[in-house]
Amino acid sequence: MIKTIYIINGPNLNLLGKRETDIYGARSFEDYFEELQRNNLNLDLVYFQSNHEGHLLDKLHEIGFMPNVGVILNAGAYTHTSIALHDAIKGIETPVVEVHISNVYEREPFRHYSYITDAAVHCIVGKGLAGYQEGIGFLIKRDIS
Ligand code: DQA
Repeated sequence: MIKTIYIINGPNLNLLGKRETDIYGARSFEDYFEELQRNNLNLDLVYFQSNHEGHLLDKLHEIGFMPNVGVILNAGAYTHTSIALHDAIKGIETPVVEVHISNVYEREPFRHYSYITDAAVHCIVGKGLAGYQEGIGFLIKRDIS
């Protein structure tokens, strides 16, 4: 049974609240993460953010074989470039839900392809920060059914 969920954000997502607020909103992820914790008191939520592809890979490898763990991954722009992240998600046992705050399919063509989708158990786009909570809900439901 899933007890711990890692929320992993990739490049530039440390700038949430300051960055292109018309697209990503005015709220910092740290602020939203406090709300996520309050709303999921039965779970151990862990937040990790990195601007470095290798650090994201290392984190996935580190947690990818731990029991009772799930991952919500917003790989940012690496979504559209990283075969290495695709391979890492394929190679680990932990289920990974892909989340994007914006609807990447309604944006520039270079955002339409994701290397993550095919390896992830589910993909949520365009729901704003609420997509992370939806991802948690998906992992829990999938786990009990
Ligand atoms: C994003 C969409 C990506 O295309 C972009 O590079 C990001 C954020 C999103 O959450 O909407 O950094 O993953």
